[in-house]
Amino acid sequence: MSVTGWRCAVCGATLPIAAPFSWRCPNSTAADHRHVLQIVSSGPVAPAVDDPNSFVAFRHRLAWDAFAAANGMDDAARVAMVREADALVAKVAGTGFVFTPFARADALSDALGFTAAGGVWVKDETHHVGGSHKARHLFGILLHLLTAERCGVAPWRSSVDRPPLAIASCGNAALAASTLAAAVGWPIRVFVPEFANPVVVARLNELGAAVVHCPRLSTDPPGDPCVHRFREAVAAGAVPFSVQGPENAWCLDGGRTIGWEIAATGVALDRVFVQVGGGAFAACVAGGLQASDRTPRLHAVQTEACAPVARAWELAGQHGGPLAAGAHWADCMWPWEHVGTSAADGILDDETYDWLPVVAAMADTGGSPVVVGEADVLEANQVGCRTTGIDASATGTAGLAGLLAMRGSVGDDERVAVVFSGVRR
Ligand SMILES: Cc1ncc(COP(=O)(O)O)c(C=O)c1O
Ligand SMILES: [Zn+2]
Repeated sequence: MSVTGWRCAVCGATLPIAAPFSWRCPNSTAADHRHVLQIVSSGPVAPAVDDPNSFVAFRHRLAWDAFAAANGMDDAARVAMVREADALVAKVAGTGFVFTPFARADALSDALGFTAAGGVWVKDETHHVGGSHKARHLFGILLHLLTAERCGVAPWRSSVDRPPLAIASCGNAALAASTLAAAVGWPIRVFVPEFANPVVVARLNELGAAVVHCPRLSTDPPGDPCVHRFREAVAAGAVPFSVQGPENAWCLDGGRTIGWEIAATGVALDRVFVQVGGGAFAACVAGGLQASDRTPRLHAVQTEACAPVARAWELAGQHGGPLAAGAHWADCMWPWEHVGTSAADGILDDETYDWLPVVAAMADTGGSPVVVGEADVLEANQVGCRTTGIDASATGTAGLAGLLAMRGSVGDDERVAVVFSGVRR
């Protein structure tokens, strides 16, 4: 399977893989962001290469690799580029893009009443770059930028003229983005809420990010002021270093390494429960798991405080079905009106930006959305951390909350995967 280009899931516009900075659908406008490019591949899934670094091991499946090849970099140069960037990241983060652990959690499986044939497998992202899975999404974008610069297809002339990176986040995505930016010395602007978590802000400052607090302005249209400021920065030339597909589809490339790592273990999974905020994470887990011999059912997990993807799943059923939902974005997905609170605060995005691949993967695999109550969110974090010894946040264990909520309809001998996607802060 090699990547040949991009196609918008909404309007069908296409872009060739060689095109630099193909972040967004050419028909996406300031007034209408409801477009998202999807990776187009051809041929069978490229075999993995034996290497501890997943961006090297799975490189022949990555859009980044095809982009670099199309711009004249040979395989040795591409591997060298990953290793060089990875070594810089490891200096700042203490780890590079090595495979993260994936194993049957025996005590958790027992606690949930599974038989020896079944059980819960946990992918542990808490020691990954920046303490979560987020850097996987962003490393693909970073490799794209470094490649464009090296191949001479970037409009800036040298590393001193680089346009800044921009991201709107005050959580794991901001930390991952600032870690990668610091590693390669790329300027970054991080747009955070007026009352952002001071611990995160302090770390962002330490990493050298330019933190921009974003109070709501009287002139602002509805929506998150951080996103407004982020989009203004992008319109003025900053690179959208975003983990939302409609802002930068390239985040949907490297994120798939997590699914490929799981598939490469050969564990025959029946189901995977994935916590969904903006949706890029679940889209990429599902995208990577397509490389499995038998693709598990995908369950997208959200909390009662904010569940737009479950609503979109229902509505897509009335608008041509989940596989044809691209033409019905406005009918199915819009910001959740009254976002409540939850300990899993990393999945309270009022809109599931990457909902299209999530509902498509649920339809493809016979899965379904799960909306969980706060009691399950808290119980999942408690039992998940206690039985595994992994110090994950409530957001990080929210996929497990979906399993708890659906446990009555999951067989005792089924094999279920969850991702503990972020460390407790
Ligand atoms: C630890 C963790 N897990 C999962 C998610 C959800 O990812 P996505 O927003 O791509 O759905 C987030 C998002 O912030 C996160 O921080
Ligand atoms: Zn489009």
